[in-house]
Amino acid sequence: MAWNPELYGKFQKERFAPFEDLSGLVEIREGIDVVDLGCGTGELTRRLSDMLPRSRVLGIDSSPEMLGKAAPRVRPGLDFELLPVQDLGGEWDLVFSNAALQWVPDHPRLVPRLISLLKPGGQIAVQVPSNHVHITQLLAGETAGEEPFRSALGGWVRQPSVLTITEYAELLYENGCTGITVFEKVFPHALDDARAVLEWLSGTVLLSYFSRLQPPLDEAFRDALMEKLEKLYPEGPVFYPFRRIFFSGFRAGRPD
Ligand SMILES: C[S@@+](CC[C@H](N)C(=O)[O-])C[C@H]1O[C@@H](n2cnc3c(N)ncnc32)[C@H](O)[C@@H]1O
Repeated sequence: MAWNPELYGKFQKERFAPFEDLSGLVEIREGIDVVDLGCGTGELTRRLSDMLPRSRVLGIDSSPEMLGKAAPRVRPGLDFELLPVQDLGGEWDLVFSNAALQWVPDHPRLVPRLISLLKPGGQIAVQVPSNHVHITQLLAGETAGEEPFRSALGGWVRQPSVLTITEYAELLYENGCTGITVFEKVFPHALDDARAVLEWLSGTVLLSYFSRLQPPLDEAFRDALMEKLEKLYPEGPVFYPFRRIFFSGFRAGRPD
């Protein structure tokens, strides 16, 4: 799936706000081994690295396009690697991820595996969007179920991998974490109009449809969804409440 760093960066202010909440959960320690899963352009990985003096921070991502933007940010103690989350090994003091794990399937297996990569006392801190129940995303799924898209997609519709806050809390507890924090937060955005909503969606969730549709069907999909969004939001500004889940916990063995 080809990411577009420019399109993703268009709503930078709105997308960076959750990072502040997530980094607020991170226990500040010095000289630790940190991995940022799905680091994207590395801008926030660098901010994370600024918070953790003398630490070794590695950003990993499966997108060469996004990592291309991260490359100039490399410095002592901050590195990036083309690596899918599923292939991560090693031992970490902090496993961090902002707005990326929603792209990785099977969280009931993924989260325990990530916890197993923590050193004793290590922390996992994750933010995932939980906006898949929003009307705009349901309309994207509805469009995918209509012809000619349904046949072109072979009936494929994007299925959310994100769990509920209770399920994340249970996963952390069942896998031996202490100091568990889990919450869901609504970020209230005001977008200019229906087209701005489409642009927001095009930078993320719609990519999985576009990558499966040959031109000109990808454009036709965008137009069909735009028609629905214009009916839903005939005039701007559009209130676009965006839900996100935050979870954090520590592996047993924390020094007192
Ligand atoms: C929405 S961006 C978030 C980027 C960054 N963490 C931020 O907050 O700005 C999601 C990133 O996850 C990456 N990604 C998606 N699936 C991945 C996977 N299986 N392994 C590694 N990275 C993945 C994408 O390439 C993309 O750069």
